Amino acid sequence: MEVVIVPDAKAGGALIAGAMADLLRRTSDALLGVATGSTPLPVYKALAAQVRSGAVDTSRARIAQLDEYVGLPADHPESYRSVLRREVLEPLGIGMDAFMGPDGTAEDVQAACEAYDRALAEAGGVDLQLLGIGTDGHIGFNEPCSSLTSRTRIKTLTEQTRVDNARFFDDDIDQIPHHVITQGIGTILEARHLVLLATGEGKADAVAATVEGPLAAVCPASALQLHPHATVVVDEAAATKLK
Ligand code: F6R
Repeated sequence: MEVVIVPDAKAGGALIAGAMADLLRRTSDALLGVATGSTPLPVYKALAAQVRSGAVDTSRARIAQLDEYVGLPADHPESYRSVLRREVLEPLGIGMDAFMGPDGTAEDVQAACEAYDRALAEAGGVDLQLLGIGTDGHIGFNEPCSSLTSRTRIKTLTEQTRVDNARFFDDDIDQIPHHVITQGIGTILEARHLVLLATGEGKADAVAATVEGPLAAVCPASALQLHPHATVVVDEAAATKLK
């Protein structure tokens, strides 16, 4: 695992956007796995600037979703599909035809999870998966004690994660679904390159457990220790608990 400490979130965003741009220059139809939440926004902003300046061509790029709320209509402004359309696809000039994600409204959620794992494999797998990290060490929505070999499946959000995400729902925790579909840790580990971005001192404990703690399901992000090509980009605030 490679750990890169950057001064701030903007620098982390620029660094990772640069890696994505390099990948797209090598492999124009690369499948980029993207996360939602606040942390990756500087990445998407920096990459969009490169697209606008003509430094990178996204006309053949493909995007894969990491997780989704269960039961939230796809056109709900906070469904992750809507968020990604707004924050990633539109700014990068990528159409929905190049987007893949799990169906959070499926009647048979388990079948939808299995179908998504199959679709990822049939698409050739994710080339670069961008991850955020929860204050409890979750990646995707694999909460603590998720199996390190798990596949895409339905999970129950912890109270902590619902509290953390209330800001996207008018600070009203009751609006947040209790269940999500998330790529499993085993699914995430199949991406060819994992890039985790963590910013702010609120992530410092989770970063220390990920990088220096034991490989343990209690910190799902520690599974990155198993991956042959994992990069953890942290700003100085998130790096404060590293030895
Ligand atoms: C969301 C996701 C989550 C977030 C994590 C951190 O797609 O994968 O694991 O990355 O909850 O969220 P932020 O970045 O908002 O602190």
